[in-house]
Amino acid sequence: MEPLREVPQRVSENSPNLINNMDEYQDMYDTALANLDTFWLNETRQRITWKSPPTIGIEGSFLEVPEAPLKWFSDGKLNVTESCLDSNLENRGDKTAIIWEGDEPDDCREITYSELHDEVCKAANALKALNVGKGDRVIIYMGMVPEAAIAMLACARIGAVHSVVFGGFSAESLRDRVLDCHSKVIITQDEGLRGSRKIPLKQVCDEALEGEHPVEKVLVYRRTGGDVDWDDSRDVWWQEFVGEQSAVCPATICDAEDPLFILYTSGSTGKPKGLVHTCGGYITYTSYTHQTVFDLREDDVYACVADVGWITGHSYIVYGPLANGATSLMFESIPTYPDAGRYWDMVARHGITIFYTAPTAIRALAAQGDDFVKQHDRSSLRVLGTVGEPINPDAWNWYYDVVGEGRCNIVDTWWQTETGGICITPIASVTPTIGGSATLPMPGIVPLLNDSDGNELTGPSEGLLCIKHPWPGQARTVWGDHPRFVDTYFGMFPGLYFTGDGCRRDERGYYWITGRVDDVINVSGHRMGTAEFEAVLVSHDAVAEAGVVGFPHPIKGSGVYSYIVLQSGAEWNDNFSVELNLLCRKQIGAHAKIDLFQHVPGLPKTRSGKVMRRILRKVAEGEPDALGDISTLADPSVVEAIKEGAQAL
Ligand code: PRX
Repeated sequence: MEPLREVPQRVSENSPNLINNMDEYQDMYDTALANLDTFWLNETRQRITWKSPPTIGIEGSFLEVPEAPLKWFSDGKLNVTESCLDSNLENRGDKTAIIWEGDEPDDCREITYSELHDEVCKAANALKALNVGKGDRVIIYMGMVPEAAIAMLACARIGAVHSVVFGGFSAESLRDRVLDCHSKVIITQDEGLRGSRKIPLKQVCDEALEGEHPVEKVLVYRRTGGDVDWDDSRDVWWQEFVGEQSAVCPATICDAEDPLFILYTSGSTGKPKGLVHTCGGYITYTSYTHQTVFDLREDDVYACVADVGWITGHSYIVYGPLANGATSLMFESIPTYPDAGRYWDMVARHGITIFYTAPTAIRALAAQGDDFVKQHDRSSLRVLGTVGEPINPDAWNWYYDVVGEGRCNIVDTWWQTETGGICITPIASVTPTIGGSATLPMPGIVPLLNDSDGNELTGPSEGLLCIKHPWPGQARTVWGDHPRFVDTYFGMFPGLYFTGDGCRRDERGYYWITGRVDDVINVSGHRMGTAEFEAVLVSHDAVAEAGVVGFPHPIKGSGVYSYIVLQSGAEWNDNFSVELNLLCRKQIGAHAKIDLFQHVPGLPKTRSGKVMRRILRKVAEGEPDALGDISTLADPSVVEAIKEGAQAL
């Protein structure tokens, strides 16, 4: 492993950045902390188009979340699309809002702000014609086409609540989400396209809608022209139906706290939960962080290569960049198609200045060698970002030296679906960085480390990462299940938001995220609940019990390790792993893949029957001799068998 390296930030000239040096950062941090209400009210009034600007900052506190969700700017009225679209028409009408790069490198589209405005209005009118109104839920199950962003904004335009479901999810996962949020309409496409592979989105959608469901209409964007089954009474082609609508659609006025979208994410227990983000706070926070963290300039070509199915795509492809009038790139393909130089080819062709991706992609591309990078001109790049998981020093150094030619600022941004936007991060061209550290909190964010007994740790220390005060961008609740929201995030330490991450703070106050401390595994930057895998595994007839944990993986960050106990009479054979993975694919989605299967005689349990997951984790992490106290084990021989079996894998 290469050593850690400290890198001063390159101060940019003529930056319109709000923060230009560490003194300004500290000033802004202190000002925010002195009066969070005033700070956020100022931010929102300056950056957001309000129909009726708010005079109230926050209502409620973390201690009061069990009684009622927090509110921000509650007397304000707005429609977020006016910040993303209308407010840009006068000065940026002809500016490119979205650059779309399709699966094939020569298949590109550029959409100006005024075109985007019109397309969103047409789609919004189409939704209205399909009987969608304010507060109705619409599921968006699409690939990375501009129409996915248009669909999101069209919902927002009429006050409908979108829920984007990542295009890799299976019919069963899609169905669960449709039923949970009771969506009236689904917007999908005939097929998705990724690395020349077709993804049968409409077909999956049809399967998801077998049986009872609340969906009245399915709006289908024709992407590939591939054959699809058609239900005349339910299915509507986007091109024809949206195409014939008027490009005038007045924005529906919403309360600041009206829900903007629901995004499902995996938790440590049970089924995925639908986190609810609301209009006023979310758009304020994504605009603020996108501009500040990336040192955004008017002529930047900004590319975040995440998928709109995840929060990164919501906040930093669509809402944040558009609210800031930026040019935002949407990428349909994969980083290795047609070869591992695709990103850098794209940088050269579009003149990308800010590039934002996940450590897993950086590691995978670094493994392909430097030539794929060096053959493309990257001189346009100024800022490089990472998100989704801790970045190891080797990958950071490669990103910095090879991709960025030692010239670009790297921002390692820590945040979560729940936080809505970036919380701990360097500020480009300001914060000195050390590879692997997300460095310092954004002004307005107050992190805190606790030990597991709830004692606050001060100075250099390692503990559980919490956030002390509310901020506008955070999720307000879990759709239909506020007690679950309270329990998950405020149950551990009443009065504090608990992130689920472990974290170290060093002597200079920099934060180093060490990873999840709950039963969530971060695979290639995608969050997977171990309980979700376990539920799938035990649904197989031959499986009696299953324990799933993460283990360090050189490319994916974490891999998925499963311990399988078979029903008596069943015999383990190699086909099981294939069968069980097919089951995961069917029940969760294509991205849910178990890397390692270990057949075990039993799971390590306490005498009261609780699975000692710590033991499963340690063995999977290759530390079978660091199991700690195992005196409460019901049957120690199980552990010996697990250790032996693991060695043989
Ligand atoms: O464990 C942290 C990790 O990703 C989790 C959040 O996952 P998700 O909600 O899917 O959102 C991912 C994109 C924002 C966190 O709890 N994580 C995210 N960013 C970082 C990170 N871990 C270390 N460093 C980061 N920069």
